Amino acid sequence: MDFDLSEEERLIRDTARDFAQKEIAPKASEIDKSGRWPAEIVSKMGELGFMGVAIPEDLGGGGMTTLAYALAMEEISAGCASCGVIMSVNNSLFCDPVYKFGTPEQKRDVLTPTAQGKLLGCFGLTEPMSGSDAQTMATNAVKSGDGWVLNGAKNWITNGPHADHIIVFAVTDRSGPKIKHTAFLVKKGTPGYTQNAHDHKLGIHGAHSCTVFFENCQVSDAMRVGGVGDGFKVAMATLDGGRIGIASQALGISRAALEAATAYSKERKSFGVPIAQHQAISFMIADMATELDAARLLTWRAAKLKDAGVRHSTESAQAKLYASEAATRISHKALQIFGGYGYSTEYPAERHYRDARITEIYEGTSEIQRIVIAANLLKG
Ligand code: CAA
Repeated sequence: MDFDLSEEERLIRDTARDFAQKEIAPKASEIDKSGRWPAEIVSKMGELGFMGVAIPEDLGGGGMTTLAYALAMEEISAGCASCGVIMSVNNSLFCDPVYKFGTPEQKRDVLTPTAQGKLLGCFGLTEPMSGSDAQTMATNAVKSGDGWVLNGAKNWITNGPHADHIIVFAVTDRSGPKIKHTAFLVKKGTPGYTQNAHDHKLGIHGAHSCTVFFENCQVSDAMRVGGVGDGFKVAMATLDGGRIGIASQALGISRAALEAATAYSKERKSFGVPIAQHQAISFMIADMATELDAARLLTWRAAKLKDAGVRHSTESAQAKLYASEAATRISHKALQIFGGYGYSTEYPAERHYRDARITEIYEGTSEIQRIVIAANLLKG
């Protein structure tokens, strides 16, 4: 596989790196400590074309490759993991399915402004009692006249408190041996669509999530995304792309942790020399760098396959599994290199450590990634 970057891919990586290092990273600690939504960064990400990187230009996007998206995601996440996942949800979990499965009207009215960063999207699959076992959701959509009536709740909805639209998955047929789901777009302000206050979490404090509720919420059939009964496939295909986004977020967190620990190890002295000169430290740095490169190769491979239009469920799951678990190991070692200062909120190591942990959970836990990888390998 050829991993040479095109001129366009190098340009978006460099633009994202410059923006992230100059305008995002200096605010990352303050965003984490205050837990505020980084509105000015979200708006600038839209202006720079980061909210719909791989959506065609005539639909408001950047018209670039999935690899370009992965590169930008790594840079933004290295600056601030919260900003990374806000971008990832808008790109992968909202714009991508509306682009792939939406109607021309949905693309014109909803996708285009969302890919331009003028509106924000979120993705409603998880429920209080169904996370990993996504099919068993309790939310229902019942046909009524020429539309649908939705009832249910979705939780951990990243971007939910600020999003203008949600793509939501509901059961539309429970009569047969297999439950059938359908996807819908719902606009904020639609009667019966409400949300509660944002969640309090271990990390990614700036990326607000919440529970959303549908109470006799009427949605026109024109807002259905994909065929009636095809919703679960829409969700799964979307997550194949989303997992590339989260793997890239994990790369960004890992790189930031590695760079901070490497710099510190050259300054901090013990036993008369910079601690980088002790093998105990330099071997940790070697392992961290090797794991980061391995994770990046897996992520780029999945991105390239998506760009080639090849089914990439296994490769996306492998990238997300490895990159997220590597991020936890890398940020753990980085904190150790900082010693006592690593445990202090004055330094970034503890934030990287907390932010890394979620990448092993959302968009499918590590255990779900192993199920996907094993099932695909064993079936054939
Ligand atoms: N693409 C297209 N179709 C797919 C597919 C894919 N990647 N994966 C499965 N399907 C199809 C299957 O072919 C099957 O079709 P048929 O009914 O026609 O045979 C159907 O979907 C059901 O597939 P399975 O039998 O494999 O389904 P399952 O119930 O065993 O579940 C699972 C599979 C992999 C465990 C799935 O439930 C899963 O991925 N769970 C994790 C959910 C998840 O990742 N949630 C994340 C929420 S979003 C989030 O986290 C956002 C955020 O905050 C950032």
